[in-house]
Amino acid sequence: MARIIYVNGTYRRYSDATIHAEDRGFLFGDAVYEVCPVIGGRIIDEVPHLDRLERSMGELAILAPMPRSSLSHVLRETVRRNRIVEGWLYLQVSRGVAPRDFLFPAARTDRTVVCFARNQPLAKGDAQAAKGIAVITTPDIRWDRVDIKSVQLLAPAMAKEKARAVGAKEAWMVDRDGHITEGASSNAWILTKAGEVITRPIDPGGILRGVTRTVLLDFIAREGLKSSERAFTVAEALDAREAFLTSATTFVMPVVTIDGNAIGSGSPGSLSMQLRGLVLAAARAQAHSQPG
Ligand code: PDD
Repeated sequence: MARIIYVNGTYRRYSDATIHAEDRGFLFGDAVYEVCPVIGGRIIDEVPHLDRLERSMGELAILAPMPRSSLSHVLRETVRRNRIVEGWLYLQVSRGVAPRDFLFPAARTDRTVVCFARNQPLAKGDAQAAKGIAVITTPDIRWDRVDIKSVQLLAPAMAKEKARAVGAKEAWMVDRDGHITEGASSNAWILTKAGEVITRPIDPGGILRGVTRTVLLDFIAREGLKSSERAFTVAEALDAREAFLTSATTFVMPVVTIDGNAIGSGSPGSLSMQLRGLVLAAARAQAHSQPG
């Protein structure tokens, strides 16, 4: 079955889909995006993802390309046409096409909307979680507005390449004060030896407000676990009992080494696995509760 991509109002085979060379997303990274999980052919956490997309657009003064209900329809249709059962969905909105100029074109310039989806069996993530992943640390060289989910992803791409070169799956980025900000495409967490779950706060910045992060913080509060939203150093991470990361594509993924040093026992932590189970169960329940 040919993969189908939505571009500006039409669903096409990839080979037939085109984007203008003067699209501002291409020339300036002037575009925002979202990635949602798909389970059982249903979109998970669509509302918070579209909320965040609207916020990203608002911060960059990109007008919504269409009403939310229409965007929602595009998401659903893209999943359906690609027959995605387990995987993820990508939605991108750029400021549109205009002769190259740093200044924004008129706000009414047609925004470019792209949506595609990928299969990614949950079993694959489960197999990876059972082993845990390696991460490296690297200086955070991104711009200051990482709260905006923009497609300016060169720094994260470079960080991930650096990780891959040493057989690691993710790079945890470190600010000038030696604190971990977040993963190149995930939020970073540790469980201290004192039993406290820690993740960096949204304010004063340095991270994206991950949807999975928010879901997990709710669980942690409900389970009555000791937790704190504060910055933590690389040394604290190395000394942690457990470490893990969260994102729409990995849910909760145990981290077993940082820069080649084993975290805790060097195998996936029991709390990390428990939290993964909770987040996945909630996502599956959400999928089941949606109409067919
Ligand atoms: N990335 N931090 C960054 C920098 C991210 O790019 C992401 C997600 C997250 C986690 O956010 P969420 O839980 O909402 O997925 C945190 C997506 C998956 C990506 O770029 O592919």
